[in-house]
Amino acid sequence: MDHEFWLERWKTQDIGFHQPQFDPALDKFWSRLAVPAGARVFVPLCGKSLDMQWLAEHGHAVVGAELSEQAVGEFFAERELVPTVRHEANFTVKSSGPYEIWIGDFFGLPESAVAGVAGVYDRAALVALPASMQDQYADKLKALLPKAPILLITVDYDQRQMNGPPFATSPRMVDDLFSDRYGRIDLVSKDVLADHPHFQQRGLTALTGAVSLLRPR
Ligand SMILES: C[S@@+](CC[C@H](N)C(=O)[O-])C[C@H]1O[C@@H](n2cnc3c(N)ncnc32)[C@H](O)[C@@H]1O
Repeated sequence: MDHEFWLERWKTQDIGFHQPQFDPALDKFWSRLAVPAGARVFVPLCGKSLDMQWLAEHGHAVVGAELSEQAVGEFFAERELVPTVRHEANFTVKSSGPYEIWIGDFFGLPESAVAGVAGVYDRAALVALPASMQDQYADKLKALLPKAPILLITVDYDQRQMNGPPFATSPRMVDDLFSDRYGRIDLVSKDVLADHPHFQQRGLTALTGAVSLLRPR
């Protein structure tokens, strides 16, 4: 997916991926990462996810990375926060309270952006990328944060039935991407098609939603 694709999705508000409530996986499973209280956490490809607010409300400082300045603008505006702005390493960095969001291409994110980060939350980030870019994504994440556990939320389906995003990402694909450095614990794997009628309309006959914990070895 090129940058224009995502910028256009934000411009036209074609953001069906955005959830109007916290993802239930956070309440159920975030504690399994054992991220120390108060530690910084990283949300790659964060959009304007409410989940960043959940993480902040649970005591974390949140670092996000997002391509779309509009998405980040909406995130702060919806909380009536006026961020301070600085420029670093080709990124515009907007911060307010517990949030610091780096606006630009995740693949160019400097290590300094995630200094001190002790946990990663990936919902709809890995699966936003086609298989051909998922390798690059996993390599970048591993290079940035070799020691941080990851709560990873993925979907899997028959890729012949629908084009991504989200892209079908099986447990085996996750293992191919991460098992050199992380052990994977399956937390949930269940059919969620009934919760996604729009995917049914797009031709899916089955959709597995999965939550995994990736623990650095
Ligand atoms: C499917 S959305 C998910 C957003 C968020 N994680 C959520 O759960 O709502 C994927 C997001 O990744 C952003 N994105 C795509 N490619 C990116 C890149 N190379 N660097 C930073 N952000 C990117 C898009 O603009 C979009 O907001």
